[in-house]
Amino acid sequence: MVWLSCGLAALAGLLFGMDIGVISGALPFIKNEFHVSSAMEGWIVSSMMVGAAVGALGAGWISKTLGRKKALLASSLLFIFGALIAVVAQGVTVLVIGRILLGLAVGVASFTAPLYLSEVTPERIRGATVSFYQLMVTIGILAAFVSNLLFSYIESWRWMFGVLVIPAILLFFGALSVPKSPRWLAAKDRFDEARDVLSKLRGSSEEVEYELNEIQSAIQQESNSRGWAMLRDNPNFRRSVALGIALQLVQQFTGMNVIMYFAPRIFEMSGFEGTAASLWATVITGLINVLATFIAIAFIDRLGRKPILYAGFVIMATMMALLSAVLTIGPTTPFLQYTGMAAVLIFVAGFAMSAGPLIWTLCSEIQPLHGRDFGIGASTGANWIGNFFIGQFFPMMLAGLGGPWTFGILALVNAVFILFILWFVPETKGISLEKIERNLMSGKALAKIGI
Ligand code: BGC
Repeated sequence: MVWLSCGLAALAGLLFGMDIGVISGALPFIKNEFHVSSAMEGWIVSSMMVGAAVGALGAGWISKTLGRKKALLASSLLFIFGALIAVVAQGVTVLVIGRILLGLAVGVASFTAPLYLSEVTPERIRGATVSFYQLMVTIGILAAFVSNLLFSYIESWRWMFGVLVIPAILLFFGALSVPKSPRWLAAKDRFDEARDVLSKLRGSSEEVEYELNEIQSAIQQESNSRGWAMLRDNPNFRRSVALGIALQLVQQFTGMNVIMYFAPRIFEMSGFEGTAASLWATVITGLINVLATFIAIAFIDRLGRKPILYAGFVIMATMMALLSAVLTIGPTTPFLQYTGMAAVLIFVAGFAMSAGPLIWTLCSEIQPLHGRDFGIGASTGANWIGNFFIGQFFPMMLAGLGGPWTFGILALVNAVFILFILWFVPETKGISLEKIERNLMSGKALAKIGI
């Protein structure tokens, strides 16, 4: 049962990634078919993120009232309908509606799946799940890049969206067959059902009773002050919510998704002519994104969060500056072309080993127990809002300012983020969540709530 639940969350991560990855390959063909302006191009990309932000912010309510299982079921249906609508779209408006539905789906899933996972898996394997989830996101992006490449040979952006239906159907049946969350059942006063589910998930009846007691006492405490009320009453909670939101905005404004959504275009700007050539380069980008995530998994608990973040942001700032320089000179020789390509690839590695998995990890670590759903909902929403702005404004920036300036600005932004890490980000390596919460609540500076 526990494995089945992990598989389900993995599928949700995969869909998250595929949703992000599909558009970069589909966009050039969509532009050909519908002749869209650069503002409309930004909207086709970012309409998904609007849906996702709304989905993530609403997911807390859905998964609280209907339950985690039904929320996941709803999200899989939205995935299926969204993908099918995109497949049959005969104009930009319908396509955008499909993208918004896909966004709602991914917003609900990106909140609910990790939450469900943390509620059904035993404590001892809970820590590994966040990085695992991010790994699935990167695998999803890679899967979409590969499918984009394959379908580019028959020039069909519709099939690129069509394949999303397969994992979405799997998610639907997966969500049907997993148990309801024991924690949610208990919160609804359905203790007998919660006990039944726990006895399927845990080895012994002692374990079941112990956990049920824990859940009960947590629920009693939780009714004190939660969500909005806690935000109003508790200035320290406001600080952790603000930090979570800022962390996710920082993650998005690194410019990673500029590469995820517009990679073929960037490779063309760096002198790689032809759709197939740039789509191949995109697949390599996706592969590096997956592989470099393992660097984070290997070192996150050994070196700590902050050293890895510093390294990642130095790499990202330098590589954006290099790309800007190549575009300023113009990719006139093979050497310059490959330098441009290397800059993009090393940038992606820098993100995948640092900001990708670490920001999600930090966001799940810094929120106090009673405000965790609310705090994580807010930061997940911020992730998608930041994502929206990037998708929306990048094509316009590129059209208005040109490549050298656009990437130069991103280089500067990444450099400034190093100071943000220095001043505001705590080191949470090896510190218990309770200690982080005590430090936060005693009013320590955010950068010091860890060690
Ligand atoms: C980010 C996504 C991004 C992905 C790339 C995630 O952590 O939230 O916006 O596309 O990493 O691998």
